[in-house]
Amino acid sequence: MDKQIASLQAAITTYKGSTPEAIENFRQQFISKKGKVAALFSSLKNIAPTERKRFGQLLNKLRNTAQEKYTQLQEQEKTHRTASLSPSKDTTLPPPPNALGTHHPLAIMQQKIIHIFNHIGFGIEEGPEIEDDWHNFTALNFLPEHPAREMQDTFFLTSHTKNKKLLRTHTSSVQVRLMKSQSPPLRILAPGRVFRNEAISARTYCMFHQIEGLYIDKEVSFLDLKETIFYFVHTLFGEKTKTRFRPSFFPFTEPSAEVDISCMLCKATGCTVCKYTGWVEIGGAGMVDPKVLTNCDINPDTYNGFAFGMGIERIAMLYYQIPDVRLFTENDIRFLEQFSCC
Ligand code: PHE
Repeated sequence: MDKQIASLQAAITTYKGSTPEAIENFRQQFISKKGKVAALFSSLKNIAPTERKRFGQLLNKLRNTAQEKYTQLQEQEKTHRTASLSPSKDTTLPPPPNALGTHHPLAIMQQKIIHIFNHIGFGIEEGPEIEDDWHNFTALNFLPEHPAREMQDTFFLTSHTKNKKLLRTHTSSVQVRLMKSQSPPLRILAPGRVFRNEAISARTYCMFHQIEGLYIDKEVSFLDLKETIFYFVHTLFGEKTKTRFRPSFFPFTEPSAEVDISCMLCKATGCTVCKYTGWVEIGGAGMVDPKVLTNCDINPDTYNGFAFGMGIERIAMLYYQIPDVRLFTENDIRFLEQFSCC
C-alpha cells in the first residue's frame, strides 16, 4: 500500500497537460469515484486495523493533493484560454498603427509667419549660428563699448580681439550677410536660433528663435514698414488687433521702434501678461541706418529700406496662450501633443 500511494503521489504531482481533454483525463484518473485514489480508499477495508488509521491519513493527504493539482490545472487552462483570445494575440489582425509625431509649436508658428510674409513677396534666407563680431555687431553699427557686446549678453566662443567668434545674439547678422552678397532690391525673412546669456525664467531663455525681415529698394518709406507690420498682425491675430509703434533705439535702424499689439488675452482690459497696460511687445523695427548700408557696400543715396525682428517664442506664447517659455524646450510629450499643424 505504501508503494502504491507513493507512485500515485508522483503521478499526480508530475501530471502535465493544459488542454481541457487532459484535465478531464486527470479528473477521471485521480478524482472521480471510479478513479485510482477512490480505489485505494475502498481497499482500506482489507488493511489490518492497526495500520488502517495511518493509511487513512496518507490517503486523505493524497486526495487533497489530487484536488489541489486539479484546481491548478483548471486555472492554468483558463489563463491560457483568455490570453489566446485577447486581440493582441490574434496574429491575423493587422499591426496596430504607429503613433504619429506632431510638429513642434515653434515650427508651426514659424511656418505660419513665413506663410503670411510669402504672400507679399518675402523669400527666406539663412545664416550661421556661430557668427563673428563683424557680422553680429560692427557692421550693424554697434559701437565698441556697446553693452550688448559684453559677456553678460553674448556667448563668446573665442577671446581673440580680432574677429571674435560668438553665438549670434540676433538674426540681424543675416541682414548683413545678405546685403554683402546680393544687390537690391531685397525682400527676405531670416528665421533662426539666437543665443543670449540671460537668466532662465518663465519669460526668458538663453536660446530662442527670431524671425528677421529686411526690405531694401528705392524710396522705401516708414509707412511701408507700418503697413507691412499691420498686415502681418491682422492676418495672424485678427483684424481687431491694434498695433502701435513706440519710439526706441537700435544701433542699426534710424528711426527705430518697438512694436506692440493689443493684448488678446484680456482684450486689452489689463492682465498679468500685458502687465495691466493692454499692450504686449512683439519685436523691434526701423529704417535701416545708412551707415549699415555703406558697411554692406550698398549706396545709401540710391537705396534705403526697413528691417524688423520678432521673437517666435513670444508670438507663439501670445497666439497659443502658453504661460512659460521653458515649455518649448522641456520635450514634455503632453505639451507637444496639443499642437497640430495648420
Ligand atoms: N535685432 C533686434 C533685437 O534682437 C530686433 C530688430 C531687428 C530691431 C531689426 C530692428 C530691426 O532685439
